[in-house]
Amino acid sequence: MKLIGFFLFLIMFTQSCVSQNATNKHFEPGKIWKDTDGKHINAHGGGIYFEDGTYYWYGEHKDRSSIAQVGVRVYSSTDLFNWKNEGVALAVSTDLDSEITKGSVIERPKVVYNKKTSKYVMWFHLELKDQGYHAARTGVAISDLPTGPFHYLKSYRPNVGVWPLNFPLKNQETQKNDASLEWWTPEWSAALVEGLYVRRDFEEGQMSRDMTIFVDDDGKAYHIHSSEENQTLHISELTDDYLDFTSRWVRMQPGGQNEAPAVFKQEDTYYMITSGLTGWAPNPARSFSAKSIWGPWESLGNPARGKRAEVTFNSQSTHVLPVEGKENTFLYMGDRWSPKNHIDGRYIWLPILIKDEKPQIKWMDTWNFADHNAIQP
Ligand code: DGJ
Repeated sequence: MKLIGFFLFLIMFTQSCVSQNATNKHFEPGKIWKDTDGKHINAHGGGIYFEDGTYYWYGEHKDRSSIAQVGVRVYSSTDLFNWKNEGVALAVSTDLDSEITKGSVIERPKVVYNKKTSKYVMWFHLELKDQGYHAARTGVAISDLPTGPFHYLKSYRPNVGVWPLNFPLKNQETQKNDASLEWWTPEWSAALVEGLYVRRDFEEGQMSRDMTIFVDDDGKAYHIHSSEENQTLHISELTDDYLDFTSRWVRMQPGGQNEAPAVFKQEDTYYMITSGLTGWAPNPARSFSAKSIWGPWESLGNPARGKRAEVTFNSQSTHVLPVEGKENTFLYMGDRWSPKNHIDGRYIWLPILIKDEKPQIKWMDTWNFADHNAIQP
C-alpha cells in the first residue's frame, strides 16, 4: 500500500514539474532553460521560423564537444517561453562518405519556407569530418514539414567564377604580390581589402563559414556569410527555390572581421548584428544599417548597453526574430558558448530597441514582452 502511495506521489510530483516547465512566463537570459520535458534546450547557434501561430527553433545539438554527433534539433512553441522538443530535424548520416557524416561540423542552421516549391529549406555552415574548419562550406537540406525530417541535398563554396557586384575591374587581375604576402602585415591588410582572397578563391568558390539567411518582403532570399578567411562578409542572392546561388553577390566590410551575422528589417531599413572574430570567446557586438540589402552598410557600433556590454553580455549573435503580432518588436538571440562542455551553452535572448535608427540591446535578468513594452521609448 505504502509503495502504491509512493508511486502516486512520484507521478504527481513529476507531472507538477512538467506543468511548471510548461508555464514559463519570462525569459531568464543565461539560466538553464528547460524544455517541456524538463531538459536544458539543446539548440545552439539557432534560428527561428514562424508559421500558423507556432515558432520553430532549430539549433545545433551539442554534446561535450561541438562536433556533430546527432544533427540539428527542432523545438516548437506558441509563446516563445515554453518549448517542446520535436526531435532531430536533420540527422547526421551514418554513411562515412556523406558530407554530413557523424563527426562533421554542422553550425548555425537557419530554416525558411519557399512558397513556390512548398518546401522548408535549411541552410547551415558545414565543415567536413576531420578537416577542422578548412572546408568552409554551406550546406542545404529540404523537408515537407517544419519539424523535418530534412533531406540533405548538397554543399557549396558559393559564387564559383563570378565577381562581386561591388568589385572594381582593376581588382580582378592577379596582383604581383598575391602569393607572397605575410599575414597581419599592413601590405597584407591592404591587399585583403582589394580582394586578395576573392581572387584566390574565384575558381573554386568563396569560403563560407558563419552564416544566416534573410528573406525579404518580396520573397527574395539572401545568404549572408563570413568569407575570405573570416575577414569579410559576403551577401549573396539565392535562386527562387532558395536552393542555389544566382551569382549576384557583394562584399561587405572588407577586412572588417565580422562573424555571426543576423539580419532584420524595420520598415525600409535593413539592420545587421554581427560579432568580432575571437573563436568561442565573446567580444563586442557590431551593428549596421542599410537602405538596400546590397548596401552600402553604415556601421553603427556596439548595440549592447550597460554592464558587460563590452562582451555583449557574454554572448554571440545567432538570429534576430521579428516577434509576430508585436509591431517593432525584435528579439536578439545570442549564444553564451561553453567550449569546455558545449551542451551547457546558454541562450541570451533580449529585446532590441531601435532608437534614432540604431539598434540597442540592454541586459535584463528576467523579462517578458510586457516589461519590454514598458521600456520602449
Ligand atoms: C565562432 C563562430 O561564430 C562559431 O559558430 C564557431 O564556428 C566558432 N567560431 C568556432 O571556433
